[in-house]
Amino acid sequence: MSDATFTPRVFSGIQPSGGLTLGNYLGAMKRFVDMQDADRFECIYCLVDLHAITVWQDPAALTRNTRELCAGFIAAGIDPEKSILFNQSQVPEHAQLGWVFNCVARMGWMGRMTQWKDKAGKNAEAASLGLFAYPALMAADILAYHATHVPVGEDQKQHLELTRDIAAKFNHDYGVDFFPLTEPVIEGAATRVMNLQDGTKKMSKSDPSDRTRINMTDDADTIARKIRKAKTDPEPLPDSVAGLEDRPEARNLVNIWAGLADLGVEDVVAQNAGKMFGYFKQDLADLAVAKLAPISTEMSRLMQEPDEIDRILSRGSDRAREIAAPILRQTFDIMGVVRA
Ligand code: TYM
Repeated sequence: MSDATFTPRVFSGIQPSGGLTLGNYLGAMKRFVDMQDADRFECIYCLVDLHAITVWQDPAALTRNTRELCAGFIAAGIDPEKSILFNQSQVPEHAQLGWVFNCVARMGWMGRMTQWKDKAGKNAEAASLGLFAYPALMAADILAYHATHVPVGEDQKQHLELTRDIAAKFNHDYGVDFFPLTEPVIEGAATRVMNLQDGTKKMSKSDPSDRTRINMTDDADTIARKIRKAKTDPEPLPDSVAGLEDRPEARNLVNIWAGLADLGVEDVVAQNAGKMFGYFKQDLADLAVAKLAPISTEMSRLMQEPDEIDRILSRGSDRAREIAAPILRQTFDIMGVVRA
């Protein structure tokens, strides 16, 4: 079935598990804002708290992190009137369709997910069943809205392929063309922002060292210091993109510049060819502070108004349900589930 049959609709999600990073911002949130502002899609953005609890969350921290993430979305430019912004657990259709997809997805498919293997590690026996089923709930998030486009960072690619497999198997098993085969949108220079001290590792909120990442709550001085201290190599910047090959730290800083400035990697290289990293990092620090510090300031301001944040999430959940509930009802009808 072609996407033309479906309303062009964007869905994406971020876990409220604390510590939003520059990776989340450039790989996801900033691109969510671009898609919202392009006015080509109806946009639905979700704080996926049910995904966060697949590993234990301290209750008070989960509450705080959910509100902080909501503040982050708004501070970054998501307009809760234009886009639908809500938290997953307030829309029960996610968990209900997630169960249906637990029955569609195969154990073998789930066992091949690299994020499952990484997160469960050697002790898979002790991991939660929810962590194993995580990608089926993610498919439900997307397909409960018949979303056609899903902007994510590169690390989510395999989960989105699985979402297509689940949609295709459901459609095939029931002889319908009901769920769309969603398009992953993994575009731009910064779909994989790397660790500031080791350009071969992804920037992550779970790295024990805070120097490896920029947090969206960092103040201007901290942002500038972390960039100035980022690992680089002794060579100046090359005059072509090919010259960044085998220089992961250099490549990462160029990608971050391109992501922050909405430029192509070629443009950043052309602007900075031959520059020593000391100077490049100073200019990058200035750019990062100019782009990120206002977001962190606005997040702190919004965090002073938790009732307003809760109201926004509640209103967003009502709007989300208006779309998801009929799709779940139709899913049950297709399956022959009896309801009054
Ligand atoms: P999460 O919460 O780990 O990350 C949220 C988004 O940030 C992107 N991201 C990065 N992008 C570039 N460089 C990085 N270093 C980096 N780190 C994180 C992620 O790719 C993601 O887009 N499973 C998802 C949440 C989810 C979801 C969904 C996403 C649940 N349901 C439905 C899309 C659609 C996750 O754990 O993201």
